This record gives sequence, structure tokens and C-alpha cells, in this order.
Amino acid sequence: MPTVRVLLTPVAEPVPAHATAVIVDVLRATSTLSFALANGAARVIPVGTVEAANAARREHPRALLCGERDGRIIPGFDLGNSPAEYSREVVAGRPLIFASTNGSIGMLNAARAKHRVLGAFVNASAVERRVADERHVVIVCSGKLGHFSLEDTAFAGWLCRSLAKRGATVEGASARFAMRTAPEDADGVRHVVEGASHGRYLIALGGEFRLDVARCSEIDSLDQAFEV
Ligand code: MLT
Repeated sequence: MPTVRVLLTPVAEPVPAHATAVIVDVLRATSTLSFALANGAARVIPVGTVEAANAARREHPRALLCGERDGRIIPGFDLGNSPAEYSREVVAGRPLIFASTNGSIGMLNAARAKHRVLGAFVNASAVERRVADERHVVIVCSGKLGHFSLEDTAFAGWLCRSLAKRGATVEGASARFAMRTAPEDADGVRHVVEGASHGRYLIALGGEFRLDVARCSEIDSLDQAFEV
């Protein structure tokens, strides 16, 4: 059974090479990318800046440029960061160069890890099954601009609790704190995600952004876990 630790922000410390990382950005990167990979996207190439995204496109001309700043699509990009944009018709077979504000940083911080699993409420049970037999799991909360985010911490606590029920050893104060924030059920998940700072920001943007929050709050919409 694994040992499980939590990084409440992506730059708290680098993920060691022997660990399996679960990268979490509930609103919205790891939720969105899980839908994208379920819809047949070829792969995800996380990058930290718009300049790095444009440079990557020169190496991968078939790739789609994806990402957001302040939640909105980056001008000149193909896709923003709403799950609804990543339909099978759009993404099947295409590499995704992905430059979001927070989720990309979480993925880059885990670059040395043995495996990098995308974690979100939309595929929580599949993620639990995927990492249950790993020896060392590090859950990387992407947070917001390098700071704590309630929704990512709540998912980390949800995963810690489910792995502990399987006999995993949850280690460290951050993991214990995360478990205390974890909601008990689907209704609790919806309240936490909608009530979190970024959830309220996206809801205030209205339209598709409001729908994104609801969609990213739905537990186990997907039955697969995905890696980047
Ligand atoms: C991200 O997904 O990196 C950000 O948390 C912001 C967003 O997509 O709204």
C-alpha cells in the first residue's frame, strides 16, 4: 500500500522521481484535460508561458494551442479551458499544448515523477484505483497563483481518505489538513467547489464559465484515469 503526501501548492517542493504524482486543478485544468483525453486527445504538452506554447507549436504543427489567463482563452489560441470546448470532434487524435495559469505549473512541477496522473472529482474513483498500488503517492495541488485553493485541497483530502480506507499511510500535516477539508458526499463537493474563491469568480463570469463549475463538481462523470 502507498504512502501518501500532499503539496498544498505546486512549488512547495519538487516531486521526487520515485513518486507517482497526482496533479490536481479542479477548476479547471485537470477536469478539462480528463474530458479531453477521454475524447481521444493524443497527448498533453504542458507549458508555463504563452511564448513556450508558441515555440512548442513550431515543433508540433498538428497540436492545438490550449489555455487561459484569468479564466479566459488566450488570444490567438485554439481552445480555452472549458471542458465543453474539448469535444471528440475537436480534439480526437490531436496533441494539446496546454498553458493554463495554475494547472500547467502543477504538471511541470511533477515533471520528474515516475508517473503523472490527472486528479479531479470528475474521475475521483478511477484515480483512486490507478494509484492504490503505487508505493509513494504525492498529490500536487495546483492552487491559484502559487497559493492555497480550497477545491484542490478538498480533492486531495477526498483522495487521501479513500486511499487510507484501502490501507494507505497518509503522511504529513498538509495531508491531515486536506482530509479535514474533504467533503463527505456529492452535495458537499458541489458546495465546496461552487463556494471556493475561483468557483465564485467563474460563476460571476456567467455563461459557459458557470456551467464549467457545475461540470467540474460532478463526481465520477468519467470512469478512467489519465496521465500526462
Ligand atoms: C487553471 O485551470 O490553470 C486555472 O486554475 C484557471 C482556470 O482555468 O480557470
